[in-house]
Amino acid sequence: MLKNKAVLVLASVLVMVLLSTGCGRDNAQKDDEQASQFQAVTEPKTVMGEKDIVQQAQESGHFKYFATMVAAGPEGTKKAHYSDTCIGCHSAVKMFDDPQAVLADFFPGGKHEGQVEGITCRVCHEFGGTEGIRLRKKGWAVCGDCHTAEKLVLGKAVHHPQNEMIRGIGVGEVPNKPSYKCFNMIDFTCYDCHVTNASRHDFLVPGVTTTHEGVTRTSAKIDYTKFIEVFEQEKCKGCHAIPEDGVDSIKKKQVYIGGKLEELKPVYEEWGKKISTMDKNDPRVKLFNEGITYYTYVEADASRGAHNYELAKDLLAKAEEKFGQLK
Ligand code: HEC
Ligand code: HEC
Ligand code: HEC
Ligand code: HEC
Ligand code: HEC
Repeated sequence: MLKNKAVLVLASVLVMVLLSTGCGRDNAQKDDEQASQFQAVTEPKTVMGEKDIVQQAQESGHFKYFATMVAAGPEGTKKAHYSDTCIGCHSAVKMFDDPQAVLADFFPGGKHEGQVEGITCRVCHEFGGTEGIRLRKKGWAVCGDCHTAEKLVLGKAVHHPQNEMIRGIGVGEVPNKPSYKCFNMIDFTCYDCHVTNASRHDFLVPGVTTTHEGVTRTSAKIDYTKFIEVFEQEKCKGCHAIPEDGVDSIKKKQVYIGGKLEELKPVYEEWGKKISTMDKNDPRVKLFNEGITYYTYVEADASRGAHNYELAKDLLAKAEEKFGQLK
């Protein structure tokens, strides 16, 4: 009895801490106001002699991606249903120099032609002052304010929902399920696993390599022998005394979630084609579209269960249930 009460008190304290620390977008507005006051920032060529991280960042998708998007041209953008709001997370120029900018401004003849700066240093950092260099945002918001689905709508596909996945935001018939790190560890962040520091700036989890085909990320492969570095960090040793166990645990989860995604993919693709020719009022259209939300939530998160295994499992079970009713 007493134990239950203690657990309850603990849980409500945690909820309060969670609400006040955000674990997501909650402090974003204040940060954004500060960020927009901060205008002319000069990009450092080398900062404190850290040539390595500058190169790493420059070679990352963050730096290069917007150029690819613009190079796809108005044709490419039409195909991908681009709208002007899309570039808010992709272009530093839109974020800091010209908030009114629209995608067309970056095409040949536009007022920002050639300004294809993507997510460069100044997007995450402020430079100058006594501290020299600091992050504009804090905690999960550093990465999670862009890596967010913004809103989850049952019946619609989901894009980059890493923030929601980690916070454990449910959708439709799937209830909320916060991840362990987000719920229990106040000072944990995305870049504790996506190790980013004075010597690492590729933003990937150690051991991960990715390949791109034009604008689309086609695959991420993880080398688990290198992934072990994640658990070998000073901050982690206290609880993850045996790094190998952490790796094994993640591996099992990724095999399960990855396998389920593979299993559902053919249904998703086959019915995607069929549905597009069906009457809107056919009950199967609704079934399929709901299935899409559950399926793409996990697929687009792209961590194969590493961000929040329990939620990913629930979402895929629901996707399977919906897809399974299609005949
Ligand atoms: C200003 C928005 C923004 C912020 C802030 C941001 N990202 Fe990204 N991120 C993107 C975009 C856009 C892409 C797609 C570019 C690409 O395909 O690499 C991306 C891609 C990625 C990828 C896939 C990389 C690849 O090569 O496919 C990873 C991993 C990633 N981000 C992690 C992070 C981490 C960790 C942080 C925080 C330290 C972060 N991101 C902050 C927008 C952002
Ligand atoms: C809330 C910030 C945000 C907005 C708004 C946004 N994106 Fe992105 N975009 C991202 C992030 C983050 C990624 C990286 C996703 C990942 O690697 O998981 C990304 C990646 C992409 C990619 C690469 C996909 C891939 O497979 O690597 C394309 C294409 C893209 N966005 C197009 C768009 C379009 C079109 C819109 C408007 C409908 C849009 N973006 C709006 C943040 C955003
Ligand atoms: C997507 C966001 C992002 C981008 C882009 C980015 N950084 Fe960082 N940077 C971080 C994060 C996160 C940290 C870790 C901060 C911490 O641990 O407090 C960091 C840390 C650093 C540090 C170490 C600061 C310290 O106190 O140890 C330096 C130096 C740095 N970044 C320079 C750069 C430079 C130069 C660029 C551009 C070439 C760049 N960063 C681009 C997110 C980013
Ligand atoms: C508990 C550790 C952990 C945390 C915290 C974490 N990630 Fe990840 N993330 C991973 C792992 C592991 C993968 C899977 C890498 C793979 O299998 O390719 C991954 C995959 C991704 C991917 C897909 C691209 C890739 O590298 O394969 C993106 C994008 C991403 N994470 C962004 C984020 C963002 C943004 C946050 C914070 C909101 C975050 N992650 C928090 C561990 C973590
Ligand atoms: C205060 C103790 C504590 C610290 C410190 C800690 N962790 Fe954890 N971590 C845990 C616990 C407990 C779990 C298991 C949660 C579960 O089973 O759902 C966990 C789970 C994880 C997982 C997911 C494993 C899985 O199988 O899903 C990753 C990845 C992880 N931690 C990475 C880290 C990293 C990286 C650090 C250091 C930056 C760190 N942890 C620091 C307690 C801690």
